[in-house]
Amino acid sequence: MGGYILAIDQGTTSSRAIVFDESQKVAGVGQREFPQIFPRSGWVEHNPEDIWESVIWSARVALEQAGIGASELAAIGITNQRETVVVWDRDTGRPIHNAVVWQDRRTAERCDELKRQGLEELFTRKTGLLLDPYFSGTKLAWILDHVDGARERAARGELCFGTVDTFLIWRLTGGRSFLTDATNASRTLMFDIATNAWDDELLGILDVPKAMLPEVRDCAADFGVTERSHLGAEVPILGVAGDQQAATIGQACFEPGMMKSTYGTGCFALLNTGKDRVPSKNRLLTTIAYRLDGETTYALEGSIFIAGAAVQWLRDGLKIIGTASEASELAAKADPMQAVYLVPAFTGLGAPHWDAEARAAIYGMTRGTGPAEFARAALEAVCFQTRDLLEAMRGDWTNGTGDTVLRVDGGMVASDWTMQRLADILDAPVDRPTILETTALGAAWLAGQRAGVWPDREGIARSWARDRRFEPQMDEAVRQAKVAGWKDAVRRTLSADC
Ligand code: G3P
Repeated sequence: MGGYILAIDQGTTSSRAIVFDESQKVAGVGQREFPQIFPRSGWVEHNPEDIWESVIWSARVALEQAGIGASELAAIGITNQRETVVVWDRDTGRPIHNAVVWQDRRTAERCDELKRQGLEELFTRKTGLLLDPYFSGTKLAWILDHVDGARERAARGELCFGTVDTFLIWRLTGGRSFLTDATNASRTLMFDIATNAWDDELLGILDVPKAMLPEVRDCAADFGVTERSHLGAEVPILGVAGDQQAATIGQACFEPGMMKSTYGTGCFALLNTGKDRVPSKNRLLTTIAYRLDGETTYALEGSIFIAGAAVQWLRDGLKIIGTASEASELAAKADPMQAVYLVPAFTGLGAPHWDAEARAAIYGMTRGTGPAEFARAALEAVCFQTRDLLEAMRGDWTNGTGDTVLRVDGGMVASDWTMQRLADILDAPVDRPTILETTALGAAWLAGQRAGVWPDREGIARSWARDRRFEPQMDEAVRQAKVAGWKDAVRRTLSADC
């Protein structure tokens, strides 16, 4: 056994694998995209076999690039797109349906029905979540309702449910481990985050047989050993966390009051609230940040569905930029006198509005409005939404988010213009770390410290280094006017029910 760690980061559009060496440096990377399946408007599926193949392919490429064999790995850490549901046959390992992805809205009606029955308060009290199709519970119920005989088979223990981590652990260990971690469990709408257990009452409401649920472990724990055939050696899996929680760890947000925001397809901001399970008055999520040595650390989370996806829309929909990085160059040329706002509710709005019916809109156009103003509006929308989350968090948690510095990561943070605008609109400093692979780093740390080859929490926190701090520079009156314009645009975009 060597001192290398393999982090598997199974995301929404691609799977990545990163080999870290003993000094926590990236030694090899493999990445592969896989098909997105859109069977109907608002539905999003993945073929679990595509996920599996892309993971194995990426892991082999990462090992090859690092110039090592799997026998030199001390451990594997897994991090994953959260909430996405896979159901498979316990005997054959074959999925009985495509994975229903977190973005999928097919259970919106079911969620409304549960809300009409007055059940949201119960779900929120126990799980910290809201009755939104985003979470796993109603998606799993949908599969059990729509695949012939599935519920009966599940009750007989013939089927397994898992978020993507569980499916990968199962496959990697040749069906010997049927496990998940507390962070992934906390996104299912079936897990009581206070007692840290699957909740019989919620399972009863959703009609989900308990026999199909995995055992829940700490984030750093023994998740089994890979079969030799997959990577060429038996390697222990010692770390598991949902991707946003792994990024929180990778950003070393270990102290209450520390906060990170990841800008990928969407944007997910997590504020560490320590031992406090803070209920939200502002429609944020209360969730598990990590569970280590049986001790749960909680977070408040704000989830925005469209961040980088707005830039993709500029590129692929409007075709006004050729590459994502051109967006900020174009935005910098926008006319400062034009107040153009884009509310990117392409798939509804997430926190703090949770309006599944809202659709995107653009306001304030004049004859002078062109690509530059569109680009600025798209990038500023991400900043305004982050501000909305921060305001909601300050309202929920009064233990001193006032002087919070936001640690950022994800593809969009490479743009200095966007990060400066973010600091300006938040009126708070924004810290960009030197290592932007924070999600993989978090998963690697869970596995590496469990294997005894990586430093402890204090050690990894000390090694977090800042590339650049962006300080707010915008004139207060300009900021106030912009924020007021944004709030007005959102108000006009929300659907009648909200
Ligand atoms: O909650 C969904 C989130 O985990 C997806 O993250 O990075 O795969 O878009 P990502």
